Amino acid sequence: MGQRQTVVSEPEELDESAVFVGKEEDFKVCKRLRTTVNDREVVIFHHLGKYHALDLRCYHAGGPLHLGEIEDINGQACIICPWHKYKIVLETGEGLYQGVNPQDPRRTKTWFSKGKKQRTHKVTVKDGSIYVTLSDVNVELDSDFFAKEKFNDEACPDPV
Ligand code: FES
Repeated sequence: MGQRQTVVSEPEELDESAVFVGKEEDFKVCKRLRTTVNDREVVIFHHLGKYHALDLRCYHAGGPLHLGEIEDINGQACIICPWHKYKIVLETGEGLYQGVNPQDPRRTKTWFSKGKKQRTHKVTVKDGSIYVTLSDVNVELDSDFFAKEKFNDEACPDPV
């Protein structure tokens, strides 16, 4: 019989560029935090025990994602942009859309991915503190365009 090993999880290491954004207890009530990391607007969600950090401005037209609702779509937690209801996967930043596969004889609607549209960032939890490390911005994503713009959250442009 083999020896039983005890698995001890290593404490999370902090990146050099990790920025402190808050304490775990800050998420107990509202489950989300709007902040700025190195001049970039970021929203951090705490959903089903996991933290997710994304650019705060929606890749479509700059909508305020911190004001959106979270929905489960095909088993993936998505933030629904409050301006035009685009769906963004919290884990990956993929944009989702609903369509019909022309090869499906039943013509049932199904969800498809547009690929990664919204920049996501790394979240590290250490000793009850939350840190965000911005992702590599050398690879351009759609949400970069709105990341440093100034917006009025109440002013939703016409549906596009
Ligand atoms: S700005 Fe987010 S869906 Fe249009």
